[in-house]
Amino acid sequence: MPKSVVKRIGVLTSGGDCAGLNAVIRAVVARAVRAYGMEVLGISDGSLGLMSRPLQYQKLDLEVFSGMVLRMGGTMLGTTNKGDPFAFPMPDGTIKDRSQDFVDGVHELGLDALVVIGGDGSQAILRRLCRKGDIPMVGIPKTIDNDVPFTESAVGFNSAIRVCVDALDHLQPTAASHHRVMICEMMGRDAGHIALHSGIAGGADVILLPEIPYTLEAVVEKLKQVHDEGRRHALVVVAEGVKMEDGNSATMKMSDGQRRYGGIGHYLSEQLNSRMEVETRVTVLGHVQRGGTPSASDRVMASAFGVHAVDLVARGRFNRMVVWRDRGVMDVNIDDVAAMGARQLDPRDPLVHTARGLGTYVGDL
Ligand code: F6P
Repeated sequence: MPKSVVKRIGVLTSGGDCAGLNAVIRAVVARAVRAYGMEVLGISDGSLGLMSRPLQYQKLDLEVFSGMVLRMGGTMLGTTNKGDPFAFPMPDGTIKDRSQDFVDGVHELGLDALVVIGGDGSQAILRRLCRKGDIPMVGIPKTIDNDVPFTESAVGFNSAIRVCVDALDHLQPTAASHHRVMICEMMGRDAGHIALHSGIAGGADVILLPEIPYTLEAVVEKLKQVHDEGRRHALVVVAEGVKMEDGNSATMKMSDGQRRYGGIGHYLSEQLNSRMEVETRVTVLGHVQRGGTPSASDRVMASAFGVHAVDLVARGRFNRMVVWRDRGVMDVNIDDVAAMGARQLDPRDPLVHTARGLGTYVGDL
């Protein structure tokens, strides 16, 4: 394989972590070093590593083949899901455009290109930063939410579903023993991909999704039907982005003043208790969904993504994002990804039909 004109690349993880990020980093380093003789610098904490002075980074070499990296959850580089460099919150409470710090950081390190592992929001922000600094970039999609457009799956999604299905497998026997309705709240932001996939795989009786309206009456009806059929327990899956009856989202204020989804499970529990004779319990899976070792299919996809991304860099095919389609890796224009934004679930998704075919209540559309 010929050496590439690209000599030194940076790789960073941006946005919420998930299982499989280290498997991507490993594949990027392997391909870049082994096939093309490139030098790889791992940037710390997403864009922050390039905005800090001194710059925060580490040289990555074939020690990523130590054995553990492929298996490790989280990201060995660190990440951040706040602090847009174009509108950066300063300690004194002001907002400052710090995008030039990022651009200067890339040039100071002498990076010929950047490989960005992130969700749709991160890809859009990093693309804007790279355009400003004329920095060649290639994106790799990751997120448990699976809402990156143009790709059937993003790194981390399959591992998150595995956690959710495990949780439902654990909830079902205790639900059956106590004749309870177990409500399981799952992540996903404004998309119901995690809830739909996990709900089907975990045998849920009700799956509530942000993309499909529901009524509490219909949920009650479904639970009564289950009871009338002779089963005295039930499983309800609710995506965190599902709205309450008044149209508002259930959110909680975090220490930094930002609001995050949380609480729809408890809302649902209270509503069901006031409408029918039922004993409910709520489980909020939360960040458990982001941790743990990556699933086999996430490791396979992460490896294919990392290799293909470096091949694109080596061939000078920049401003692309790798995607998973038809059991293989391809690439698309990253500007299309940024323009499209997050990919919500299509209410006509065949899996919605599957869930309904099983008798699951998935809302009223
Ligand atoms: O985007 C991934 C995600 O885990 C969402 O599903 C969730 O709403 C959000 O991040 C939680 O963010 P944080 O880690 O800041 O609490």
